[in-house]
Amino acid sequence: MVTGGAGFIGSHLCDSLVALGHQVYALDNLVTGSEANIEQLKGNPLFTFMRHDVTNEMPILPDVHFVFHLASPASVPDYQKYSEETALVNSVGTRNLLKFAKAYNARFLYASTSEVYGSPMEHPQKETYWGNVNPNGVRACYDESKRFGEMMTMLYVRKYGLDGRIVRIFNTYGPRMRKDDGRVVSNFINQAITGKPITVYGDGLSTRSFCFVSDMVEGVVKAMMTDGTKGEVYNLGNPEEYTMINLAKKIKTMTKTASDIVFEKLPEDDPPRRRPDIAKAMEKLGWKPVVTVGEGLKKTIEYYRQVSGI
Ligand SMILES: NC(=O)c1ccc[n+]([C@@H]2O[C@H](COP(=O)([O-])OP(=O)(O)OC[C@H]3O[C@@H](n4cnc5c(N)ncnc54)[C@H](O)[C@@H]3O)[C@@H](O)[C@H]2O)c1
Repeated sequence: MVTGGAGFIGSHLCDSLVALGHQVYALDNLVTGSEANIEQLKGNPLFTFMRHDVTNEMPILPDVHFVFHLASPASVPDYQKYSEETALVNSVGTRNLLKFAKAYNARFLYASTSEVYGSPMEHPQKETYWGNVNPNGVRACYDESKRFGEMMTMLYVRKYGLDGRIVRIFNTYGPRMRKDDGRVVSNFINQAITGKPITVYGDGLSTRSFCFVSDMVEGVVKAMMTDGTKGEVYNLGNPEEYTMINLAKKIKTMTKTASDIVFEKLPEDDPPRRRPDIAKAMEKLGWKPVVTVGEGLKKTIEYYRQVSGI
C-alpha cells in the first residue's frame, strides 16, 4: 500500500513497485495529487487506486505486506494552504496507518522530511541531529506534525514491535511535480520556459541539495525492503549543494531563456542551508543518488515543456 500514491513521489514509487511485480494499492484523497500521475498504471491488474483520506477509518483490504506512508502536502505553499490537513495527515493519519500495519503484520515506512531539522545548527545534517524547529511558527504544521509522525512510528516499533522505519526525504524533484506547487525547481523551470522573470528568494546564496525522483524512489524501496532497517532512520537526498543563484543560472542556460533573474524577500523561517549526510544510507542500504543535476533537470525541463505544450 502506498499512501499519497497519486502524488509526485508516490506515483513514481507505485510505478517502481508495479515494475518489480508487486500488487499495489494506492490511497490518495487528491488534495495535492492528481489521477494524471497514475494514468499509466490504470488498467494494470497489479494496480488499484482508491480515493481515500487516510485520516478517516481505513478500508479493509486483502493481505498487505508493506505500508509506505507518503500522504501529506509537501511543498511550502501547499502545506500553508492546507495547514490543518497537513497537521492531521501526519498525526491522525500516521496513527491510523500504524494501527493498520500492526493489524496486517506489515512492514511500515514513514516518509518524514529534512524539515524536522528546522533551521539546522549542524551542517550537513546527520540522523542523530535533533534539529532546531520553531514549534509554533508558520511551518510548524508540517515540521512539527512530521516530528510527531516520527515519534508515533517509533512508539509503535517500541511498544508493539512493529517493523517500522523512517526516511527523512530531502528536496526531491523531477517529472510530475505540479508546475504551480511553489518548489524552487518547478518555479525556476516554469518561469524560464514561459519567459517570465526567474525569482530567487533572499540573496541567492542560500543552498539546497536536489535529489532526482528515481534515486529517491530507489532509496525508499531499499529502506523498506532491506533487512535490519526496523526502528532505523535514514536521510535520503543528494548531498551535492547548490546555491539558488547557481541553480537559477543553470536552468537559464539549459532552457536558453531570455528571462531575467530577480530577487525577492525570503519567506519566514526559511532555513539558509540544508544538506543531508547520507553515510548511513550508503553503508546500510547500499544506496546513493546516481542521477546528476544536469541529467535530472534535462528530464524535468522536457516534462514541463511537454505538459505545457511549449
Ligand atoms: N518532494 C520533496 O522534496 C519532499 C521532501 C521531503 C519530504 N517529502 C515527503 O514525501 C511525501 C510525498 O511528497 P510529494 O512531494 O510527492 O508531495 P505530493 O503533494 O505530490 O504528494 C502527496 C500526496 O498525498 C496526498 N494526500 C495528502 N493528504 C492526504 C490524506 N489525508 N489522505 C490521502 N492522501 C493524502 C496528496 O493528494 C498527494 O497526492 C510527503 O510525505 C512529503 O512530506 C517530500
